[in-house]
Amino acid sequence: MPDSRVSSSSPRPASAGAPSPATASSTEKPAVEFRNIDIAYGKFVAVRDFSLSIRKGSFVTLLGPSGCGKTTILRSIAGLVDISSGQIMIDGRRVDDVPIYKRNIGLVFQSYALFPHKTVFDNVAFGLKYRNVPKPEIARKVGQALDMVRLPGSEKKLPSQLSGGQQQRIALARAIVFQPQVLLLDEPLSALDANMREEMRVEIKKIQKETGITAIFVTHDQEEALSMSDRIVVMNAGAVEQIGAPEEVYETPATAFVADFLGKANMLAGTVSRSDGALAITLAAGQTIDVTSPRPLAPGSKVTVVVRPQKLSVGATASANRLSGRVVSTSYLGGSAIYEIDIGGETSIRANAPINGRIIREGELIEVGFDPGGCVLLDEGGQRIS
Ligand SMILES: Nc1ncnc2c1ncn2[C@@H]1O[C@H](COP(=O)(O)OP(=O)(O)OP(=O)(O)O)[C@@H](O)[C@H]1O
Ligand SMILES: [Mg+2]
Repeated sequence: MPDSRVSSSSPRPASAGAPSPATASSTEKPAVEFRNIDIAYGKFVAVRDFSLSIRKGSFVTLLGPSGCGKTTILRSIAGLVDISSGQIMIDGRRVDDVPIYKRNIGLVFQSYALFPHKTVFDNVAFGLKYRNVPKPEIARKVGQALDMVRLPGSEKKLPSQLSGGQQQRIALARAIVFQPQVLLLDEPLSALDANMREEMRVEIKKIQKETGITAIFVTHDQEEALSMSDRIVVMNAGAVEQIGAPEEVYETPATAFVADFLGKANMLAGTVSRSDGALAITLAAGQTIDVTSPRPLAPGSKVTVVVRPQKLSVGATASANRLSGRVVSTSYLGGSAIYEIDIGGETSIRANAPINGRIIREGELIEVGFDPGGCVLLDEGGQRIS
């Protein structure tokens, strides 16, 4: 489980005097708070009634499809876009009217946005010179920041002499060197290749924990969000769908959108055929399955059964619910495989199962199974039944 606390062996949080989130009292002011903000570009409302409270020292990710308003929200914190209504508070202070240059915020973008003709030193020192920090202190702080991003001694290099990953580390050093109150990261890894992306995930998370800085990270990559965040804000079309810890949004999606966007869940349409403790649900494909429900539902109610591909066992299964079908595609992933199985009635389901002995090939008839508790139920409106 991702740990939202800073361990006691971690250095003091960078923001002066800020208590570690582990010891923070419940009355502590949030690092950043959005209160019912709307943001419009002309007549187009890009963000609608957005509220979010971010704990000091935590790592929060805005996750959602292209155009859902993630960058717009980051820009509003930095003061790069005006909000139409609501309030933004940083450390308990309203910042709606605070100009950009007075907000103490570090920014990292997808494109590294380094000054190409300046050395690494001058790039990283930029925010410090701007704040009139004395020269010896600038040299010391730049050195520390470069150590932190594991590029010590690179002061004299030019950005063009560095790889993409190294340039992004410099961008990160530049953003954290002046110990901002909040670090904003807008898809900082999307320009990197897959290996570098994974390495940088770990690296960014480590630096964030070590410095205790509050970070708001934007991505449309669900793996990135699940692996890095203390909390995830799933957004759709300018509005919040769900806010929760990674395992919470993954295991108990609040809406059909969240279930589908995070991990491509199986969504099986069905009708309640019996309700006596557990529910019996007759699927559109004809089979009847048993599921545990948080509350009784009247027979005849239309529901969607959401089952994660990892919750399905494949082949000889002891699970209570068994569905048989034909494998229409097999994707071998190394230790496991993803099977697409046609269970009839134009319904196919995806199972992600370990390879037990052999890979099941396309065209084979197999059984898939899952337990009554291994799913989430949505109502007709796509909201989780709780
Ligand atoms: N300057 C602008 N003028 C008008 N509309 C804009 C402007 N900037 C963004 N938008 C619109 O606002 C919506 C949200 O944009 P935003 O850039 O915040 O999305 P995003 O979630 O960051 O998307 P992506 O994942 O593609 O970066 C989009 O529909 C976009 O077209
Ligand atoms: Mg964006």
